[in-house]
Amino acid sequence: MFKANQNYLRLQGSYLFSTIAKKVAAYTEANPDANIIRLGIGDVTQPLAPVIIDELHKAVDEMGKKETFHGYAPDLGYAFLRDAIADEYKGRGCEISADEIFVSDGAKSDSGNIQEIFSEDAKVAVCDPVYPVYVDSNVMAGRSGEWIPSEQRYSNFIYMPCTEANNFTPEFPKENPDIIYLCYPNNPTGMTISKAQLQEWVDYANRIGAVILYDAAYEAYITEKDVPHSIYECEGARTCAIEIRSFSKNAGFTGVRLGFTVVPKDLRDADGVSLHDLWARRHGTKYNGAPYIIQKAGAVVFTPEGQKEIRAQVSYYQKNARVIYDGLKDAGYTVYGGVNAPYIWLKTPDHMTSWDFFDHLLEDVHVVGTPGSGFGPSGEHFFRLTAFGTYEKTVEAIDRIKSM
Ligand code: MLT
Repeated sequence: MFKANQNYLRLQGSYLFSTIAKKVAAYTEANPDANIIRLGIGDVTQPLAPVIIDELHKAVDEMGKKETFHGYAPDLGYAFLRDAIADEYKGRGCEISADEIFVSDGAKSDSGNIQEIFSEDAKVAVCDPVYPVYVDSNVMAGRSGEWIPSEQRYSNFIYMPCTEANNFTPEFPKENPDIIYLCYPNNPTGMTISKAQLQEWVDYANRIGAVILYDAAYEAYITEKDVPHSIYECEGARTCAIEIRSFSKNAGFTGVRLGFTVVPKDLRDADGVSLHDLWARRHGTKYNGAPYIIQKAGAVVFTPEGQKEIRAQVSYYQKNARVIYDGLKDAGYTVYGGVNAPYIWLKTPDHMTSWDFFDHLLEDVHVVGTPGSGFGPSGEHFFRLTAFGTYEKTVEAIDRIKSM
């Protein structure tokens, strides 16, 4: 008789955002008149920018003509998009060439899949709290060890607590990891890292022979000068870092799907094996390329007109972040994040558990957020709100929370 992948049996419950969606659906069914405001999952609400819509229309028309029709996309992405991305890196002083960029259907897929190119016994370090995909994908791959219910953690992972005490920036772990996941600006805390601090991580990774998987999905939200937009702004990152980027949060592509991963050619394992070659091999075998239409739309993001329009959208969400941050502060909450990120991380009042606070908000004021403990044990007694709602609903949600 066949056996299922036993690693999957170690996963805890369902994916965090699916659990929340189910809870909200059950509540809505029981309370059909409740006017729910969703500030839970980080999904955008503003329509795609006009310049992107125009390009999508043009590309669709091209697909309808024999002369301009496109079949399979190149596995690693069209040159027009990879060149545009490489130029953006160059503009930031990062030495990344177009053939080190792998276009994909989004940062979630890449951050879940990237672990496949590492050995099964690689020691994984994650921030705590953390975007659940990094943890779950390594559980599926068999790297987690057992779940320890009393500690709400897996036995084989290295958890790097990000707490108020360390200003939500992890310290180097006591035990040396092989793979280190970092996400800045951070999901879920909305906090970030200075260039000097990130440089220390790069130096550390090079020193111990680890690789940093750097998720920069929220870089468009950086407002402060000293915050790096890319890990490749740090010296030595080419020999220790892979960077994952998204078009979801900067250009509203959550429903369109586009992202990319950078794997420098200098990045080699202990035996000199090129991670770039392995990721290319994986892409070639398991992926037929993001659609032409979508890649055309993605390339527009890097044009001056595209930049102007998407910057306006990012500013819209940044304004929401300010409404949430200031409103909660006024109401006496302890609040973090929101300055360089679209997430606000608040401390639950009266030491309530994250899930109790979730229920409290849902039932009393019909506002949905994300319980901090869903991101890891150090997220307990915290709660995440997203700035990706509409301005009107964000203002209303905060008014409702203030009235509690
Ligand atoms: C989140 O809410 O954490 C994100 O939307 C999840 C994602 O980007 O996949």
